[in-house]
Amino acid sequence: MNTPRILLIVGGGIAAYKSIELVRLLRKSGMIVRCVITRAGEQFVTPLTLAALSENKVYTNLFDLKDEVEMGHIQLSREADLVVVAPATADLLAKMAAGIADDLATTLLLATDKPVLAAPAMNVRMWLHPATQRNVATLRGDGVTVLDPDEGEMACGEFGPGRLPEPAAIFAVIEAALSSPLPLAGGVGGGPVSFSRSSADMPSPSPSRGREGDLVGQPDFAPANHRPLHGRRILITAGPTHEPIDPVRYIANRSSGKQGFAIAAAAAEAGAEVLLIAGPVPLPTPPGVIRVDVETAVEMAEEVRQGLPVDAAIMVAAVADWRAADTSAQKIKKDGSGAVPPLALAENPDILAGIAKSADRPPLLIGFAAETNDVIAHAEAKLAKKGCDWIVANDVAADPMGGESNRVHIVSKNGIDSWDRLPKAAVARKLMEKIADELDARSPRQPD
Ligand SMILES: Cc1cc2nc3c(=O)[nH]c(=O)nc-3n(C[C@H](O)[C@H](O)[C@H](O)COP(=O)(O)O)c2cc1C
Repeated sequence: MNTPRILLIVGGGIAAYKSIELVRLLRKSGMIVRCVITRAGEQFVTPLTLAALSENKVYTNLFDLKDEVEMGHIQLSREADLVVVAPATADLLAKMAAGIADDLATTLLLATDKPVLAAPAMNVRMWLHPATQRNVATLRGDGVTVLDPDEGEMACGEFGPGRLPEPAAIFAVIEAALSSPLPLAGGVGGGPVSFSRSSADMPSPSPSRGREGDLVGQPDFAPANHRPLHGRRILITAGPTHEPIDPVRYIANRSSGKQGFAIAAAAAEAGAEVLLIAGPVPLPTPPGVIRVDVETAVEMAEEVRQGLPVDAAIMVAAVADWRAADTSAQKIKKDGSGAVPPLALAENPDILAGIAKSADRPPLLIGFAAETNDVIAHAEAKLAKKGCDWIVANDVAADPMGGESNRVHIVSKNGIDSWDRLPKAAVARKLMEKIADELDARSPRQPD
């Protein structure tokens, strides 16, 4: 691959100082970085700092005639492989959503034919304001990847979502996007990024406006359909379920949701429409993924049912086998007698086996099995019992749930494919490659 080129647009927010670290990380990894800074951004970091770190001229003014000759604004918007807006101010998000182009940054964002990644940062009230939320939804619908901001204490003293994700986290998304490109903004050949909860009103894959040759004068336009899961719909469950005993207590397990979320991220990066049904975990939603949060196994089963049909379902969630048979409406109190309250359990629905038997059974149905002993034998038994196509077995005795890596064995009727221990993101990418091959073998994709 050629050296990746990033166009970084720095907006006028207090977090602009973090863009300096982002430039450093990008340069350190060998990428070519060109920076554009808004007029407000210049109040927070100087073009000189960005120029020194990026080792490139920094652009600030749309009406710089010399640049229009040497490097026109259209060329500047298109020579990059990826346009990154960090920090993306509320103002920039609003202008991008409305298609306003009244300075260099916003003109480039409107003129670009490249994927756009925006990392918002602002006061919590600004972020939660319906106008900003509307703008973010519009941008995501247009194919812009808008990261969720981090949560925490803000420079203004308030607490909540609105902090710029750490530069290392933005850098990781950029690296992933370059290896498996993000959808293009503006629907120009972009992969679908929305996925309705109800399959009946799921959008069909994007119109074919972006096919090669359609866009005259944009020779390096990359069609989205080169991505291996473009046009496929994938449903993923992740995390634990919480089964209430009373208003303050619940039955749960140690699932962190990390592997399921990594799989959802990898599926979206590979071009799939992704519906992630997540148990209670405090993880950010991966870019391009539609997430539905649930609490209990019964809720998860219902959301899965509503999410079908799909091309593949990957059931990563560690669903509680049992729930409390009776849930107390009030907190159960000790009565001082030393008597322990009885806790009767009821069996939860078997979501995986239920889908396998349903009329909407996905062509590829994959279950996960976390085992502490006899990993392969248990996985083989589970494969037969549940009626799914593959079981991804992982040994949680070696690396307890919540760790950063996984050693998995893919058990199917064709045998066992054992992988080395890998970071969860790498397991997810490898699994997506295998799924894409399997789906292509079963039903080759029709060209757009
Ligand atoms: C001290 C200070 C800090 C600010 N921080 C933010 C911020 O973090 N996020 C944001 O959206 N706007 C912030 N603003 C407001 C923006 O600077 C303002 O909306 C500006 O018009 C944004 O311009 P731009 O989007 O062209 O960069 C801040 C303003 C001031 C004075």
